[in-house]
Amino acid sequence: MPSATTSVYDQIEALIPEDSPLRGMTSLEDVQSWVAATELIELDRTRLNPVFGVGHPQADLMVIGEAPGADEDKQGEPFVGRAGQLLTKILQAIGFERSDVYIANILKSRPPNNRDPKPDEIAAHIPILHKQIALIQPKLILCVGRTSGTSLLGKDSSLKDMRGTFHDYHGIPVLVTYHPAALLRNGNWKRPTWEDVQLLRKRYDELTT
Ligand code: URA
Ligand code: URA
Repeated sequence: MPSATTSVYDQIEALIPEDSPLRGMTSLEDVQSWVAATELIELDRTRLNPVFGVGHPQADLMVIGEAPGADEDKQGEPFVGRAGQLLTKILQAIGFERSDVYIANILKSRPPNNRDPKPDEIAAHIPILHKQIALIQPKLILCVGRTSGTSLLGKDSSLKDMRGTFHDYHGIPVLVTYHPAALLRNGNWKRPTWEDVQLLRKRYDELTT
């Protein structure tokens, strides 16, 4: 159904380089198969499994992390390790099951020893995320962790400066909050995270009912 919001996702599709095979793809399955078969960066060769994304293919809420860790690399699914289990609990606390939302990462392949993603790795993989957003058409995005927020929004800010308020991403509201792995290290960040996800739920309800 044509609507004013169609152009939001067209704008995100337009961020994908014109010569990328992603441009012509019309299903998540096709994108996933291409990602599994394609080596864009060195990490795509050293990974055990690509970690494409999981959840509802037309989710109203997308959750975006940084990169797969060891557990995700083994299982080929995002956020299944210790931090992932905490993310699942946080989502449940605001009334979402994993199957209600779509969960993906900025990088689809694990960086060795969980080092930070490099700018050229992010640049090479982020068109995959743009394609996922263009196909899923979420109404709202939650970025967990600084790298997720800065990579998607294209700005260099601290987590503290980004959290607590909605950012506009080509018309889609984006909330950035602490990464669940950070919460496992520092309990002081649980309260602000709780406040952020309450805001997220409120906005979700406004946008979907
Ligand atoms: N951390 C992330 O950012 N993503 C995962 O999938 C797992 C841990
Ligand atoms: N600092 C970060 O960069 N990310 C977090 O999630 C928490 C603190």
